[in-house]
Amino acid sequence: MNPPSIVNTISPERLPELLRAMPKAELHMHIEGSLEPELMFQLAQRNGLSLRYPSVEALRGAYVFDNLQSFLDIYHEGTLVLKTEQDFYDMTHAYLARAAADHVVHAEVFFDTQTHTGHGLPTEVVIQGLHRACVDAQAEFGISASLILCFLRHLSEQEAFECLEQALPWRDKIVGIGLASSEVGHPPEKFAKVFARCKELGFRLVAHAGEEGPPAYIWSALDVLKVERIDHGVQSLKDPALVARLVKDRIPLTVCPLSNLKLRVFPTLAEHNLGAMLDAGIVATVNSDDPAYFGGYINQNFTQTFTALGLNSQHAYTLARNSFEASFIDASEKRRHIERLDTVLAHFME
Ligand code: ADE
Ligand code: ZN
Repeated sequence: MNPPSIVNTISPERLPELLRAMPKAELHMHIEGSLEPELMFQLAQRNGLSLRYPSVEALRGAYVFDNLQSFLDIYHEGTLVLKTEQDFYDMTHAYLARAAADHVVHAEVFFDTQTHTGHGLPTEVVIQGLHRACVDAQAEFGISASLILCFLRHLSEQEAFECLEQALPWRDKIVGIGLASSEVGHPPEKFAKVFARCKELGFRLVAHAGEEGPPAYIWSALDVLKVERIDHGVQSLKDPALVARLVKDRIPLTVCPLSNLKLRVFPTLAEHNLGAMLDAGIVATVNSDDPAYFGGYINQNFTQTFTALGLNSQHAYTLARNSFEASFIDASEKRRHIERLDTVLAHFME
């Protein structure tokens, strides 16, 4: 594929259609953040619980956030309706159906068990429900999905070790380990030992860093935790030496523009630095983070950000291709997806 020919051949009017239709991977979404208010009410009713909000509309209306912590508080409350393996299955099945409709052909899904074990659920209930939905979605929607277990960084490293121990019986159902929750005040170094253990165990490693926290957290996620991808990483552009490192080592950033907008990391989408990242040569990808809370699934992240930043079909191709290259699927699968992407692009160039 000759990059300049893409921009010259696809008319800008067809860009939204291209963004929606192109096959893509989603590498940064928290499954609990895909729980739509409608399903939350259904699960609450099924489990004999009542919510603090009188209606779906009132609940959705409460999704106004000042920063990451104000979101995490309401997000945590939403997880209280999840009680059974079937609940985890239904939530994951709904997300994968929705993602497949956006032409996501592969998803790497974040989940955590500490939230749920903290409510008295066994780790097994969470992992079995998620895994069964991933298996069924392959047959039903043709989407592949794998699971990344995130430690909660506001809890201790000892608690992360306990979480890991409890998850190890289901090791074969987990591709990687991540680090999520309240960032500032909880630097990656806090989890150095447990990440070293996860690396020894052969897990792929990622971490949220530089969402609200400083570039120093991105450096330590790379150099102390030895992660392969950075989740968010939008603060990296404040540090030219860090940008040079990300470019040189082709470290992917899983960027979530609507999340950054809703959590006030950027005042407007027009001020988002996704375009600057691509111009700098960073391997950026576009993702939805917590789509039920942030007003959009992956295609809305693409279309709204492209409109706000004036990005073009070349950027679209780069981002979709990056999503496969940054994924944890094997090389032959990557090649297959990129060939399919090239075929879809070729149709738009006719
Ligand atoms: N957990 C769910 N969404 C998150 C985010 N955007 N940052 C950190 N932890 C999260
Ligand atoms: Zn996230």
